[in-house]
Amino acid sequence: MKRMLYSGSFDPMTLGHYDIIKRGAKMADELIIGIISSITKTPMFSLEERKEMIQAQVADLPNVKVDVFEGLLVEYIREKDIQVVLRGLRSAMDFEYEIQMAQVNAMLYDKMETVFLMTDQRYSYISSSAVKEVFSFGGRVEDMVPEKVYEFICRKYQMK
Ligand code: COA
Repeated sequence: MKRMLYSGSFDPMTLGHYDIIKRGAKMADELIIGIISSITKTPMFSLEERKEMIQAQVADLPNVKVDVFEGLLVEYIREKDIQVVLRGLRSAMDFEYEIQMAQVNAMLYDKMETVFLMTDQRYSYISSSAVKEVFSFGGRVEDMVPEKVYEFICRKYQMK
């Protein structure tokens, strides 16, 4: 079975992430979305909330599973018998960061591959931080996150 991991902090999941997930799901027998708590970022949503939002959004993608993990990515993929890590690229800036991460991971575990998908240009400006910033100033975020994530945000913050 070809298992692929798409990991990130997903705080919250954006339309860009969702696009990569839908496309990645076609490339593997099983795609695992691995939510990780970033040590450098203050989260807006708990890991459980993020898992709930993502699970609701991917419910109609039968080969997509959602999990939470901590520690080194390579330890997680070794344990779960995952062979491929999927990443999205939005810009040259992402590339600089991603190539370094892919090379460090490959040095730590040489049985894995990292594959990159170009983000759909409609979403190249979106990031989780942008969603949080726009939201914190009362701006519209429904064009930046998928439907179920938006519903969750509305419920949590009791918006109409
Ligand atoms: N569409 C929209 N936004 C995207 C995106 C896409 N396709 N791809 C990435 N982003 C955004 C994310 O929303 C995030 O935004 P933010 O900085 O505003 O929160 C930003 O780009 C960075 O995302 P990502 O690269 O996924 O970083 P992350 O912090 O969410 O996750 C891990 C990084 C978890 C993959 C990485 O830190 C990791 O593997 N950690 C485990 C520890 C480890 O093994 N370290 C050694 C590796 S060197």
